[in-house]
Amino acid sequence: MSEIGSTLHVPSAPPVPPWFARPGARTTRLSEPAPAGVRAFHEGLPDYAPTPLTELPPLAAELAVGRVFVKDESCRLGLPAFKALGASWAVHRILAERAEAAGGTAPGPLTLVTATDGNHGRAVARVARLLGQRAHVFVPRGVHPRAVSAITAERAEVTEVPGAYDEAVRLAAEAAGQADAVLVQDTAWPGYERVPGWIVEGYSTLCAEIDEQLTGAGVDAGPGLVAVPVGVGSLAQAVVTHYRSRPSGPALLSVEPRAAACVLASLAREAPVSIATGHTSMAGLNCGTPSSIAWPHLRDGLDAAVAVSDREAALAGARLAELGVSSGPCGAAGLAGLRAALSGPGGGRHRRALGLGPSSVVVLLSTEGAAANPHAAHGNPG
Ligand SMILES: Cc1ncc(COP(=O)(O)O)c(C=O)c1O
Repeated sequence: MSEIGSTLHVPSAPPVPPWFARPGARTTRLSEPAPAGVRAFHEGLPDYAPTPLTELPPLAAELAVGRVFVKDESCRLGLPAFKALGASWAVHRILAERAEAAGGTAPGPLTLVTATDGNHGRAVARVARLLGQRAHVFVPRGVHPRAVSAITAERAEVTEVPGAYDEAVRLAAEAAGQADAVLVQDTAWPGYERVPGWIVEGYSTLCAEIDEQLTGAGVDAGPGLVAVPVGVGSLAQAVVTHYRSRPSGPALLSVEPRAAACVLASLAREAPVSIATGHTSMAGLNCGTPSSIAWPHLRDGLDAAVAVSDREAALAGARLAELGVSSGPCGAAGLAGLRAALSGPGGGRHRRALGLGPSSVVVLLSTEGAAANPHAAHGNPG
């Protein structure tokens, strides 16, 4: 996977600005929407139900906007994070192609190989188990032992890697070179783009649900802002693809941990960069390199990007818990990012850059529940 190095590598964590804005992104029309068959596929899965879009008026008052909704991914297809949307659709596409190539004869069992900060690997392992396939999951340092056990409980083989996420991805890609193995990775690099593209398509169901749920809540014009937690940027790519396939859409804000703000660093340099990541409780966001297929979407389609500390994520998670939404540190990052942008220095300028006013509708993507990420149990906001 040496191609991942085709991004500019920044050997030590560069000084990352806390905020980046690109005026005019929300009027750009960038892409075609995801294929319609994705939603229908998910609806056919036994555990499928739309996840709640919960309105939280106290947050609207706190943020001085009209309405705030939280898309609560704490229970998605039986797992405590959104990731199974991507893994299920990508594996479906892989197996369909394999069946077609076998031309009527049943293809033999396959090993689905991946690297993970926790949630994606668990989702791939679950999908493999349900479909009678094998899974081999590479886990970098810093992933909580209970998150590792959750993957093992899906009967996956787990290889713990003493390096960072990018190194785990490299080793997974190597292992997937064996016969009857396929890499199901949620990040892309030149030469490896098809499967991550399917994973991004899979995430589109989340956005389609939000559309329907907002209409049901009387918001016909769509949201004014969507805040997205970002690791490699595949989820953000799905969000950009969804909202930038329309003539005009909401402001899109990406939120990363300060210890792993590779998208913020890339936006600031106007080119994708790999950074050395540090430790963060936002394990699912602890990634050093933006996905190659996500990057052009993020560059052109994000209005703003912000980085938050573990403490800010823990405080946001505690506030969401008070309001009845279970949110792990990655899930709470959206609220943490918006709070940091609006209440810190430059808050008025940031509010204007995001086009927020007293009647704006904000959607925060809470991408995992507290159960997904045992780091949450140690997040002491006080
Ligand atoms: C809970 C959670 N939220 C957000 C993300 C970020 O997704 P992406 O890496 O596609 O940016 C992840 C990635 O693993 C995650 O686990």
